[in-house]
Amino acid sequence: MKNEMLEQRSDRPLAGNVLAICGSVRRGSWNALLLRIMSDLLRIQGVAVQTISLRDYALPFYDGDLEAEEGVPGAAIELRQLIDQHDGLLIACPEYNGSVTPILKNMIDWCSRPTEGLGGLAPFQLKPVLIVGTSIGPFGALRAIGHLRAILSKMGAMVIPEDLAVPNAPSALSEEGFSDQNLSIAATRSSAMMVTQLGRIREARA
Ligand SMILES: Cc1cc2nc3c(=O)[nH]c(=O)nc-3n(C[C@H](O)[C@H](O)[C@H](O)COP(=O)(O)O)c2cc1C
Repeated sequence: MKNEMLEQRSDRPLAGNVLAICGSVRRGSWNALLLRIMSDLLRIQGVAVQTISLRDYALPFYDGDLEAEEGVPGAAIELRQLIDQHDGLLIACPEYNGSVTPILKNMIDWCSRPTEGLGGLAPFQLKPVLIVGTSIGPFGALRAIGHLRAILSKMGAMVIPEDLAVPNAPSALSEEGFSDQNLSIAATRSSAMMVTQLGRIREARA
């Protein structure tokens, strides 16, 4: 079902820019599809969305010895800069055994390490983050979303209160959007709250 609550407004001022990250690099990932649907919802509200794949930023598992010997990997430095340069983050969070996927947590851990000229948590602090997630099960990654909220809040990010958990991904999602109107309404509400928060930050900066 296409979301008809929001119409494309080409005259809208740019509402900010958001980096979209999926916690699964699997081909055919349901979370990647959810990320695309949510990105479109943000775009029609005037947000510029840049999507990256963590497959393009291959990182070793965090290891303090490796960091001491070789420093923060180039891919993590690049990611930190990207996060820093964007007004907000959109994260699609899959659930593995009730929690955040290792590729996502590993990326966050590397990106929290200080690099030259940029304090460890600086890219995350006061950054609006919209978390969405889906799974093939009936809870829709709800537990993982809660864990990610706790992690990012601890790091100083401003996690948007209205996250979105989509249960039963194969029947709930398609290239056309959400099959259920209530989900579509919830997604619109979440994205609108993100846009409001981005606007507040922009006003405070002006
Ligand atoms: C190691 C592993 C653990 C999983 N644990 C859960 C879980 O705790 N809860 C759940 O709803 N789904 C779980 N799943 C199923 C995932 O929701 C499903 O594989 C989903 O498609 C993963 O997201 P993706 O499609 O974006 O890759 C698990 C899958 C894997 C591979």
